Amino acid sequence: MRCRYLIFLFCVISSSAAAGQAPAGDADGDIQYRQNVMRALGGHTSAMALIVTGEGGNERDLRVHADAVIGLAAMVPSLFPEGSDAGRTNALLDIWLEPARFRQRLTEFERGVAGLGRNIARGRREFAQAFQALAVACKGCHDRYKSQ
Ligand code: HEC
Repeated sequence: MRCRYLIFLFCVISSSAAAGQAPAGDADGDIQYRQNVMRALGGHTSAMALIVTGEGGNERDLRVHADAVIGLAAMVPSLFPEGSDAGRTNALLDIWLEPARFRQRLTEFERGVAGLGRNIARGRREFAQAFQALAVACKGCHDRYKSQ
């Protein structure tokens, strides 16, 4: 039963993605892609938060989440193509109006991600600090460039 439910869920998810069926370069497709990659980042960081705080999960899974964040983070600079400001998005126009400042947020984020990578094999405390620094970098960009 559980397995069938999972398959059902997968179909629902896939069909809603297909409803987007945007041709390459379409703004809606770019916006949906950005939001999905961000949600994936959110899923991994939220899961890591539970492990880091000891509230749940398994410490041995930290590396999987950290590797996923590192991989996804490399996509972030390309998630804001021209034209993807218009549509159902919470991305603020300033991203495209002040690219140099936006770039600073990206650099801070990249630093945070690099810190996470460096500290994965160190102690729990070092990792927790690096994780917190990364969360600050996520928030730093959201506060300035994301509505809500
Ligand atoms: C350089 C800027 C920037 C950085 C860094 C950044 N975000 Fe975002 N994030 C955004 C913007 C802009 C949006 C709104 C996207 C949209 O609606 O088109 C967003 C949206 C989101 C969303 C909501 C997606 C949705 O629509 O459901 C989540 C969750 C999220 N980000 C998590 C994270 C996490 C976690 C990190 C750090 C690991 C992070 N973000 C780093 C700019 C950033």
